[in-house]
Amino acid sequence: MKRKGIILAGGNGTRLHPLTLSTSKQLLPIYDKPMIYYPLSTLMLGGIKDILIISKPNDENSFKKLLGDGENFGINISYKIQPKPEGIAQAFLLAESFLDNSPSVLILGDNLFHGDSLVSLLSEADKEFKGASIFAYAVKDPERYGVIEFNEDGIANNIIEKPKNPKSSYAITGIYFYDNTVVNKVKTIKPSERGELEITDINRIYLDEKGLKVKQLGRGITWLDTGTFDALYEASGYIRALEQRQGLKIGCPEEIAWRKGWINNEKLKEIASNSIKSGYGSYLLKLIKE
Ligand code: DAU
Repeated sequence: MKRKGIILAGGNGTRLHPLTLSTSKQLLPIYDKPMIYYPLSTLMLGGIKDILIISKPNDENSFKKLLGDGENFGINISYKIQPKPEGIAQAFLLAESFLDNSPSVLILGDNLFHGDSLVSLLSEADKEFKGASIFAYAVKDPERYGVIEFNEDGIANNIIEKPKNPKSSYAITGIYFYDNTVVNKVKTIKPSERGELEITDINRIYLDEKGLKVKQLGRGITWLDTGTFDALYEASGYIRALEQRQGLKIGCPEEIAWRKGWINNEKLKEIASNSIKSGYGSYLLKLIKE
C-alpha cells in the first residue's frame, strides 16, 4: 500500500504573537514562500502524492486558497480540522479515515529540511513497511525538543520529551514514518501532564517493541526550526542566501512536481502566469526554457 502524508499545521503559535494572532504560523513567510511550502516539498521529494493538511478551524480556508486540491502540484490534498491543539499524536486520530490503513509519514508544518542526501534518506524510510523511522539531529539546545538517548553501543534506548538534563544532544526532528499500526497505538495513550497526546509516547511504544529505527541526519543536512522570531528570521536568511547564490529555489513544490513529471509544461506555464511580477513565475518559466 502506498504511504500517505500528513502535514500538521495547527497549534496556537503563541510564541509568535502578534504575528500569529490573525493568521496561521505555517502561512508566515520564509523568505519568498509560505512556510508550509517547505514541508510540502519535503513530502513530495519523498514521492508522497496523497497528503492531508490538518489545521485550526479558522485557517482551513486560507490553506485551501493557497494549495487547493493539489492539482497545481500533481498531487491530492485533503483537509481536516483540529478543533484544539491536543497533541501532535492526535493527528493520527483525525487522519484515521484518510489513512484507511495505509502506512504514513507525518511532518510538522513548521519544520524545514534541506540537503542533498535528504531524498535518499526519505526513500529509504519509505521502503520500511513495518515499524517506525525517525530522524535525530545534533542541536545546541536539546532541552527544547524530544531527545533520544543511546546506550554504550550507540543503540537508542530511551526518548524523553524536553528533558531538563538531556543525556544526549540529539533532538528528534519533526518528520515521522509509521506503519499502519500507529492509529491503534495512539488510541492506547493518555494525554500527558500538559494535556497533549505526545508523539514521544508513540515513538517510545515503537522503541519498546524494538520497531523504531533512528537515523541520524549529519551536518550536510539542514533542519531548521521556525518557532521564535529569531528562528523565523534566520530561516529566511538561510533560504535567501542559498537562492541568491545559486539562482535555484528551495522548497518550490511546483518545480518538484514538474521535475517528477507530475505536471506538464502547460500546467507550469499556467501557474507561472499568476506570479510573474514577483519573479516566482518567471523562475518557473525559466525551468522550461533550460
Ligand atoms: O520540531 C520537533 C519537535 O516537535 C520534537 O523534537 C518534539 O519531540 C515534539 O514534541 C515537537 O516539539 P514542539 O515543542 O516543537 O511542539 P509544538 O507544540 O511547538 O508543535 C509543533 C508544531 O505542531 C507546531 O507548528 C504546532 C503544531 N501542532 C502542535 C500541537 C501540539 C498542532 O498543529 N497541533 C497540536 O495539537
